[in-house]
Amino acid sequence: MKKILVANWKMNPSSLEEATNLIGEIKEKLAGVKGVDMVVCPPFIFLNEVGALLKGQKKIKLGSQDVFGGEGTSFTGEVSVDMIKNAGAEYAIIGHSERREMYETLQIVSEKIIFSLKGGLKVILCVGEEARDEHGEFYNYVKDELEMALAKLNKKNLSKLIIAYEPTWAIGKKENEILSPENLHEMVIFVRKVLTDKFGEDGRLVPILYGGSVSKNNAQEIISKGNIDGLLVGRESLKPANFAEVAEMLSKN
Ligand code: 13P
Repeated sequence: MKKILVANWKMNPSSLEEATNLIGEIKEKLAGVKGVDMVVCPPFIFLNEVGALLKGQKKIKLGSQDVFGGEGTSFTGEVSVDMIKNAGAEYAIIGHSERREMYETLQIVSEKIIFSLKGGLKVILCVGEEARDEHGEFYNYVKDELEMALAKLNKKNLSKLIIAYEPTWAIGKKENEILSPENLHEMVIFVRKVLTDKFGEDGRLVPILYGGSVSKNNAQEIISKGNIDGLLVGRESLKPANFAEVAEMLSKN
């Protein structure tokens, strides 16, 4: 399986000019990276322009950071699957913890997944515990998230699903404040088991990424010991040279 690298720009940058410069630099720095599927997810407001700048090349795909999970047009402030697709995007991050902390329930997440797949977007579903406890309850937390979010997913759509394991407590931290690669390895086995229990052997086809304070300094260990199929990167994806180093590490593993 090809490794996957996803950039989540979150609510950055603050102007179109900066977004244009950023994608330009990312394209340049990642030009030599081979064998990695790369996805850049800018804020909605820059999707069209970034999409236009990515057109005509195959290396970097476009993704959104969210999507509206329903039909109709009377939804002020929302952005539909069609709009996202027409901007050139192929992927949507769904259920990011920063959205779920605000108001998004797993019921809403589940609907968003169904509508995205129906409309032809691939889904990057984020799951992860808020905290770890010594009794391992956090495993049940992640299992519940997966089961609720994927409750309505048809097995035939599994090839369009990516899971990003992002423990909330490890997001936005210093690069040495994240979980150990051994703990990550265990969680990836666990997520894989939840998927195969639900979908049978086909569950093995779903790539599992890690996200949470990934940097060029900790990525090598995460990649070599974490048992992952790729990475979902926040802050470090805004620094093209560092992001390219992470991409190189993925391409060599
Ligand atoms: P950081 O890499 O900035 O911790 O963000 C991780 C994340 O939330 C990516 O979706």
